Amino acid sequence: LTASLTLDPAFTISPVRRRTFGSFVEHLGRCVYTGLHDPAHPTADADGFRGDVVGLTRELGVSTVRYPGGNFVSGYRWEDGVGPVGARPARLDLAWHSTEPNTVGLDEFMRWCAAAGVEPMMAVNLGTRGVQEALDLLEYCNVAAGSHFSDLRRANGTEQPHNIRMWCLGNEMDGPWQIGHKTAQEYGRLAAETARAMRMIDPDLELVACGSSSSAMPTFGAWEATVLTEAYEQVDFISAHAYYFEEDGDLASFLGSAINMDRFIEDVVATADAVRAAQKLTKRLHISFDEWNVWYLNAAPSKPPTDDWPVAPVLLEDHYSVADAVVVGNLLISLLRHSDRVRSASLAQLVNVIAPIMTEPGGRIWRQTTFHPFALTSRYAVGDVLRVELSSPAAPTAKFGDTPLVDAIATRDAGTGAVAVFAVNRSVSEPLVLDIDLRALGAVELVECVTLANPDPYARATADDDRSVAPRENTAVTREGDLLRVELPPVSWTMVRLA
Ligand code: AHR
Repeated sequence: LTASLTLDPAFTISPVRRRTFGSFVEHLGRCVYTGLHDPAHPTADADGFRGDVVGLTRELGVSTVRYPGGNFVSGYRWEDGVGPVGARPARLDLAWHSTEPNTVGLDEFMRWCAAAGVEPMMAVNLGTRGVQEALDLLEYCNVAAGSHFSDLRRANGTEQPHNIRMWCLGNEMDGPWQIGHKTAQEYGRLAAETARAMRMIDPDLELVACGSSSSAMPTFGAWEATVLTEAYEQVDFISAHAYYFEEDGDLASFLGSAINMDRFIEDVVATADAVRAAQKLTKRLHISFDEWNVWYLNAAPSKPPTDDWPVAPVLLEDHYSVADAVVVGNLLISLLRHSDRVRSASLAQLVNVIAPIMTEPGGRIWRQTTFHPFALTSRYAVGDVLRVELSSPAAPTAKFGDTPLVDAIATRDAGTGAVAVFAVNRSVSEPLVLDIDLRALGAVELVECVTLANPDPYARATADDDRSVAPRENTAVTREGDLLRVELPPVSWTMVRLA
């Protein structure tokens, strides 16, 4: 079986958006406490943040980090997390049936962002709170001095404003599980009024309205249309969230998950553009795909405790397989393919909670399988996303009908001529050959070809061994003139670099 891919630097989609490689830190399970933050750990800094987590966050190539939730934010009082740590209240976190000690809050998180070299993306609580509290938080973060909350920040030890650019107006307000869940009409009005007031403090903010929690929501489509009818002019982004997992042993459909993401993105774009047309506006809205990943959300690790209110319980700690990593790599291909409209995305989440990075309290750190396609795509997807011509054999799947077995995207740095191709073989059993036509690229040589695959697609990394399921050099590459021929094993993710 052979697929073919033609690359031409004349055909581009858009520049690669660095914010595509964002992630997400929520006060949930062990993401913050014993994840990012573990004062007893030998690598901990003065705030108690683990240096090894900062190191792997940098290696992962994370650009932005969304914070502090997620469902958590819809009951959060940001003031609880600032000022002297000893004076901060413990609160019930209703979203995850946990106790939030508030040892880590806004100012600590901002110091962590600086250490990790990431841009923060702050979410405001529009579940139990409203316009005023969002304004207070913005004043604390972005106003230099001379007002109550800006001076409080200075008194708390942060002289310069945090100057946070990107703000999420609530979280998943379409979901009946959300604290303060609203109808689209109610939320659209609140988002518009919150945004309008926030811009009175800082006109250049980049604001994200909540779209749907999944394309399977019964309100999907209508939600976006109603929210944007209210808020289009006030916001810059509409969010999208999607989690995928293998159901009923149907690996073939699971491997096709990016088809759902492609359609989801295209449907949100169509809906936003329809509102734009109806309102006779020129501004185009972008998508912030600010939660995406593989998440086995019906499995035991994702069930919140019911009998007590633990601090930092083990929650949502999925252990990812090679097949999961192939899907993650493919979802990144989908995000890159839509870079003209998807200008921000967040892999949910960063540490321990459905995460590429795992930690033992006070102990080891290790990379899950999903770490690798993210890190390599973030590092080598540079310059422009190319509009590639791909032709692939297909096979039927239960969820998506006839499903192309190969999916791929390419990027090219016009300055250096460096090209990166990212490809997956979604066949559960067949190796495939990918013929890459390099005719239009001029004189380029193969730099490297690496593939993540395993005879057992369910192989997982562990704290003892996170190397044997990492990508390896793919030696099944041949070249005849302008044709590069790469063998893609079944259930695999591959990166080819040329320069
Ligand atoms: O990322 C885990 C949870 O998934 C988030 O808290 C919520 O926004 C989504 O439902």
